[in-house]
Amino acid sequence: MLRHSPLKLALGLCITISSFVSFQSVSADELIESCNSCHNPTKKNVPVINGFSAFALETSLLAYVDDFRVARTYEGEDMKSIMKELSDADFKKIIDHYPSQTFTPIKQAFNPELAKKGKVLHDSYCSRCHTEGGSLADDDSGILAGQWKAYIIEEMNNYKNGSRIGDKKMTEVSKSLSDEHIQALAEYYASQQ
Ligand code: HEC
Ligand code: HEC
Repeated sequence: MLRHSPLKLALGLCITISSFVSFQSVSADELIESCNSCHNPTKKNVPVINGFSAFALETSLLAYVDDFRVARTYEGEDMKSIMKELSDADFKKIIDHYPSQTFTPIKQAFNPELAKKGKVLHDSYCSRCHTEGGSLADDDSGILAGQWKAYIIEEMNNYKNGSRIGDKKMTEVSKSLSDEHIQALAEYYASQQ
């Protein structure tokens, strides 16, 4: 049985994807290939999405569509514009594809001392929702272990400054963290390779 927070349930139930406009129909392979032109390990600071649970993927993508989170411009594009152009059918192709893929952690440098501090913070403040070091897709809370450090830091700061609205407790805990805490947590997730 997957655990869903009330906010996530509300997001799932209240947001319709009928606002998607389809400009053209693409095959599932073409669509996934276009996503993977950025979502691959050679693209620095782009999150790994292979192996996400269907629920986490859906929540994450709908947050862009419904302006619950900001998107940065990357190689001239941004996730909000990309998502707002997709049809319901395209959305389904995405949800059908990524959860069956294998999550491969990013190989990146990390600071072992800070990673140790990060683990202590994680175990106290994060592990009840992000279990197994933040590596379990079935938590439905994304996968933190093995993500790019800069991505984790950016998203934590977005929760903290209110530009990403998500799980209420998740948002609350982010506001109690200093820059040093966030850095240490990111080093800990990066250390899991
Ligand atoms: C031009 C590069 C680019 C393309 C193309 C792209 N993405 Fe992204 N994506 C990003 C970046 C950069 C981020 C993270 C930063 C942000 O939101 O600003 C991201 C974030 C995401 C996230 C959020 C992950 C999380 O952990 O919450 C998901 C899910 C995602 N993309 C799925 C997709 C899908 C599905 C497609 C294809 C329809 C796609 N992306 C196409 C660059 C891209
Ligand atoms: C009460 C449960 C809960 C707690 C505690 C919690 N989180 Fe989360 N977190 C979530 C959920 C649910 C999501 C999924 C997205 C959302 O709701 O915004 C999430 C998303 C995230 C993301 C974004 C992942 C992505 O793929 O973009 C990061 C980073 C994160 N959490 C880090 C942390 C850290 C670090 C802590 C501890 C300081 C923490 N979380 C504590 C529930 C929690």
